Amino acid sequence: MSVENLPSEIDTTTPSVARMYDLYLGGVENYDVDRQACAELDRIAPDCAPLARINRAFLARVVRTLVEEYGVTQIIDHGSGLPTQNNVHEIAQRINPDVRVVYVDNDPMVLAHGRTCLDENDNTAVLSMDMRDTAEIFDFAERKRLFRPGARTACLFISVLHCLKDSPDERDPAAVVHKVVQRLQPGDFLAISHLASEDPGFRQRVTDLMHELTQGSWGRVRSRAEIEEYFTGLDVLPPGIVDVRGWRPDPDQAGHDQQRLAWEEWGGVAQVPEA
Ligand SMILES: C[S@@+](CC[C@H](N)C(=O)[O-])C[C@H]1O[C@@H](n2cnc3c(N)ncnc32)[C@H](O)[C@@H]1O
Repeated sequence: MSVENLPSEIDTTTPSVARMYDLYLGGVENYDVDRQACAELDRIAPDCAPLARINRAFLARVVRTLVEEYGVTQIIDHGSGLPTQNNVHEIAQRINPDVRVVYVDNDPMVLAHGRTCLDENDNTAVLSMDMRDTAEIFDFAERKRLFRPGARTACLFISVLHCLKDSPDERDPAAVVHKVVQRLQPGDFLAISHLASEDPGFRQRVTDLMHELTQGSWGRVRSRAEIEEYFTGLDVLPPGIVDVRGWRPDPDQAGHDQQRLAWEEWGGVAQVPEA
């Protein structure tokens, strides 16, 4: 979308996380300001582009596994990002055309593009909403019959919780995950990946720069242990909470993606246990 034709709510003067991620994935829905921000981030945090690709491949394996092996038929993709290749509904509906997907993102560019690329059929919808508004998101999905009682459900938080700040209320990432789990049934699924580092200095430098670049629209790089806390009380599926490259890698992926990176996407998939 050229700058002249943009809806007025799209701000091309401040970098956006959605557009920076699009750039790292090789997309074209980004502006000079995003490209400059990525260049600055790359100076202190190498490997952003490989991490974006690794994360996207994890997302694809998670969706495929949940639909094919666990019979998931309804999905909320929190912080879905700009449409790209292999969007969640495309992966899921190739396996089962009846899978219903609700995409949620608060970046206006996602809505602008999502209307054509993501809201493709009666089984998909794009919600321009804050992913922390759990009640409104579930109410929408139920009202539109995208979520139906008793159907196996998955909620995705793929590379998004680091966009949320810690806060002492229900807007905190852990509290948001908890609210979502409360809306799920036993046997339903939650998938998370999150930018992580075990180096406190690195975490702080990246967090400070991302705050500066996005004018505060960001959260924090967290440690592996902090991310593992989000899975408390859930039954984590094998192979556990891992560098997502190691989460059920495709056979042709073995041997690839083994290089040492400056940081990682840490995550896994869990099931809501019987009460
Ligand atoms: C790094 S991208 C991840 C996209 C996608 N989940 C993936 O893994 O490919 C993070 C996305 O989260 C969105 N996001 C950040 N904070 C959000 C919030 N509070 N509510 C909804 N979306 C949010 C951003 O706009 C961006 O599109």
